[in-house]
Amino acid sequence: MIRKCLFPAAGYGTRFLPATKATPKEMLPVLTKPLIQYGVEEALEAGLDTMAIVTGRGKRAIEDHFDISYELEHQIKGTSKEHYLTEIRDVITKCTFSYTRQVEMKGLGHAILTGETLIGKESFAVILADDLCDNDSEAGGVLSQMIKVYNKYKCSIVAIEEVHKKDTNKYGVIDGEEIENGVFRVSDMVEKPDPENAPTNMAIIGRYILTQDIFDILKDTKPGKSGEVQITDALLEQAKQGNVVACKFKGKRFDCGSIDGFVEATNYFYNREYNE
Ligand code: UTP
Repeated sequence: MIRKCLFPAAGYGTRFLPATKATPKEMLPVLTKPLIQYGVEEALEAGLDTMAIVTGRGKRAIEDHFDISYELEHQIKGTSKEHYLTEIRDVITKCTFSYTRQVEMKGLGHAILTGETLIGKESFAVILADDLCDNDSEAGGVLSQMIKVYNKYKCSIVAIEEVHKKDTNKYGVIDGEEIENGVFRVSDMVEKPDPENAPTNMAIIGRYILTQDIFDILKDTKPGKSGEVQITDALLEQAKQGNVVACKFKGKRFDCGSIDGFVEATNYFYNREYNE
């Protein structure tokens, strides 16, 4: 059973400078909610209640967000504004949070390895909060869809989406055999391939379920593209043993690590919340 969700949140978020100079990228709000809260709510919806967050310098606001602000609570208690805190109070009540710091930014794979101390010896989920996903009305959240697939195959699971061929150089891209509708046994994975070298247009998005052996593999994974330890390289080792399954998810995803995706998400959630 998957209980824990790891949030690698140590990146610099340079594409959002200067906003991210003193504010973590994960705290940028889409409407009134910071990106990371959407991620935590998705994990909760999937039945996970233990949140493990890998932070870095300048990320204190994340810890403060998932804590009680006594002064603020006191100030608005009993007023018409109190309902603004309902959702975050609910999140704080339902889950626990633990934190560790990635001291040097050596890539996503290294950030996940840094989280080993919070995860221990069990399979776990990973959410990259800057990939913001909206639930499918029937299938539920992306993570809960992936957990169903994990419960069947008991191996690492990646969520995939078909992207324009010209965009493969922004993603890890998989190749594999379709074993049931929208589910693939992964045979190959390439990190950010140029379109002409991409095996397919099936791109990995920021949702993973990883089996615990990933940590030992990451310890032996050499820095790859751009000198960073890539999770794709470690997953490829598992894939060679037939232990990675990819699933096409139902629902919408926004790349909120980019300006275009962030604006698109804001418009989408605004229209849903206020215009319907
Ligand atoms: P990105 O590739 O989006 O990098 O990281 P970034 O630093 O956050 O953003 P830009 O490119 O400078 O604008 C993908 C995810 O991996 C985490 C990030 O926090 C983000 O959630 N990450 C990346 C780490 O936690 N540590 C790292 O060393 C690198």
